[in-house]
Amino acid sequence: MKFNYLKFEKKERIGILTFTRPDALNALNENVFKELSDFLDADFTQSIRVLVLTGAGKAFVAGADIKAFQTYSSQNAYEFAELGKLLFDRIANLDIPVIAAINGFALGGGLELALACDIRIASERTKLGLPEVNLGLIPGFNGTQRLSRQIGAGNAMYIMMQGEGISALEAYQLGVVQKLVPPGEVLSSAIQLAEKIASKSPRSLSLIKEMVGKGMEMSLKDAGEMESRAFGNLFKEDQKERIEGVTAFLEKRQPNWE
Ligand code: CAA
Repeated sequence: MKFNYLKFEKKERIGILTFTRPDALNALNENVFKELSDFLDADFTQSIRVLVLTGAGKAFVAGADIKAFQTYSSQNAYEFAELGKLLFDRIANLDIPVIAAINGFALGGGLELALACDIRIASERTKLGLPEVNLGLIPGFNGTQRLSRQIGAGNAMYIMMQGEGISALEAYQLGVVQKLVPPGEVLSSAIQLAEKIASKSPRSLSLIKEMVGKGMEMSLKDAGEMESRAFGNLFKEDQKERIEGVTAFLEKRQPNWE
């Protein structure tokens, strides 16, 4: 499939999806979302174990396309927000791990996209934030919610209300970003981490995602019960990866998940 604003490459078991609208710092508009939707529909993730998202040029993604806002009605804006939220939920709910390789600015919708990924690695020199307060707006792709759940309400309000964007170091200290690396090493570090993750049990990885994702919306008690059930289910006779993992440990060899 040919895209104008996205590029998909495979490096063995790792997929790399790059946002390629560098003239607009990869800003998200309806055309980009149409391609992202086509990408997700085509299920490119079937043949990979980990997906890495990154941006071309000096930005990861600098947010929703502010120029396009000039013509939006209230209904258009609502539909655009719903579409972004739906697509970001689809990314969050992929049953493979997704890593955001934040090579440059991750602002507004760009940070919201990164927050829909499971893990974020950022360049030490970049800036992250939700600067919608400078535009008389609020985050529209679920950023108010995802960021608060990720780092707590006070930290999320601090980022959203001052609106200037924060340094990658501060984002790391607040837990928005899990790893900082020198500029130029973001994608290679993300791929390195992706390869390490790709060597682990795919069933375990997808269950961890499910438990964390669903658990965030449940009480601790109900989420604990869900986890016990999932743990128990792994001991059913057809759970090949659990059989292989435990057997490999006992036989002092590496497991083979194929
Ligand atoms: N939308 C549309 N175009 C954008 C854009 C955006 N979000 N961000 C950057 N661009 C465009 C610029 O307009 C410029 O285009 P022109 O050359 O045609 O003027 C080009 O990308 C390069 O940008 P700059 O010249 O501004 O680059 P810079 O290095 O001087 O500044 C920046 C970089 C600080 C990221 C600055 O571009 C900026 O502040 N961008 C806007 C960031 C922002 O406010 N994002 C939130 C958007 S609202 C949102 O996302 C709402 C939501 O949740 C749904």
